[in-house]
Amino acid sequence: MEYPEFPNSEEYTPIQEILQGKAKDSVRIRGWIYRTRSSGKLAFVVVRDSTGIIQCTVSREKVEETDFANARKALIESSILLEGEPVKDDRAPGGWEIRASKFEVFHFAETFPITKDQSDEHLLNNRHLWLRSRNMVAALKIRSTVFKAFRDYWTELDFTEIQSPSFTTSACEGGSTLFNVSIDDENEKSGQKFYAHLSQSWQLYAEATMFGLENIFTLAPSFRAEKSRTRRHLTEFWHAEVESAWLHNHQMMNLEEGMIMHIISSVLSKNRAELEFLGRDISVLENIKAPFDKMKYEEVLDKLNSMGFDLVWGDDFGYKEEKALTQDLKTPLYITNFPKEKGFYHRPDPSDPKSLVCHDLLAPEGYGEIIGGGERVWSPDELVERIREEGLDPESYGWYLDIRKFGSVPHSGFGLGIDRTVSWLCGSDHIKHVIPFPRTMRRTTP
Ligand code: 4AD
Ligand code: MG
Repeated sequence: MEYPEFPNSEEYTPIQEILQGKAKDSVRIRGWIYRTRSSGKLAFVVVRDSTGIIQCTVSREKVEETDFANARKALIESSILLEGEPVKDDRAPGGWEIRASKFEVFHFAETFPITKDQSDEHLLNNRHLWLRSRNMVAALKIRSTVFKAFRDYWTELDFTEIQSPSFTTSACEGGSTLFNVSIDDENEKSGQKFYAHLSQSWQLYAEATMFGLENIFTLAPSFRAEKSRTRRHLTEFWHAEVESAWLHNHQMMNLEEGMIMHIISSVLSKNRAELEFLGRDISVLENIKAPFDKMKYEEVLDKLNSMGFDLVWGDDFGYKEEKALTQDLKTPLYITNFPKEKGFYHRPDPSDPKSLVCHDLLAPEGYGEIIGGGERVWSPDELVERIREEGLDPESYGWYLDIRKFGSVPHSGFGLGIDRTVSWLCGSDHIKHVIPFPRTMRRTTP
């Protein structure tokens, strides 16, 4: 396909190109005022666009009088158009500055409510404005690369991208994190309400869809009423999920490893500047090699207990445990064979039936779980038994049980938390820094 040219790409030069020394003798840029100060006859205006920042000097002697007055007057975040000569200058940030010959203010900004060293709460309340910050821009560029790398990897393997509903009535990941919604039906004279949950995972729907397409993936929000307030929990997060027919757990783990390596190499080749800006130690990412280490849940239990924890078979690993386990690791770590209670849909391990043929993948450097997945129970009778064992009602899984009755096959799948992955790759100290509008139990605005 021939791509059309992007409008105005010749009229205005992205700041990045000027900093790379690629610009002509005279350039036009457009953007927003990032910093500004002025003396009697000179205004120093640092301008930003989506690609970077550059210092511009506006001299009373070189521009029209109104241009100079406006350059002095305009507050930060005013939108501007500027024409001038790029000059190499080691004193300027990035090594280049523009000496303006024209300076036009497109819109004068009011006093911007965000200044230096603001509290996290203030930045969250002003998220609609904080999204202009260079930190957010860098993290969101990396995030975009992760989305693309996930899509490219599975598309290349011939998996089909599909969508599943967000309103459901079947709990996939346990009742305690379900969001309930009630829906008023105005046509219903009795004032009857319909109840649904918000989806925690596409998995049950994926297992149904898989019978037609065999190999599928999705990228969608999942919802969890998370009571835990940690640096890695959101109530609405982006979930990258895969399901595949005729595939066993260990095979899926190998494919996932390839996916993680592809995501890392994509970010390294596309977002070096952003990683550097965020202060990420890039060598840590460069040194990650497959295959990743694997440990059984039981071994992890012993290891954690030897580190001073007091855990027994069946206990879940939370943030504290995973942090302790991974903070000195340099590569991701697989944990397999979790206890049966982890999920009704995972297949019990025939060689050790108190454990499951499943896995989590933990990111190193203290980040912990980014993937949960495994092989599904494929026998209809065994599935009913497992649902009962977990204290659930087989009745409410009617259609899900139905799909096992018509040519069931072994199959495996997983879910990757995109926000957690980006947080790890960015070296961020909180998941909220890598999603445009974070949602938690206490925040649904802006
Ligand atoms: O481990 P989980 O709960 O697994 C599932 O949902 C499976 N049904 C997926 C599947 O097999 N298709 O969630 C998968 C991943 C976690 O490893 C984590 O990265 C992310 O989703 N995740 C969250 N991310 C941010 N905030 C939350 N509250 C999250 N809960 C899960
Ligand atoms: Mg999990």
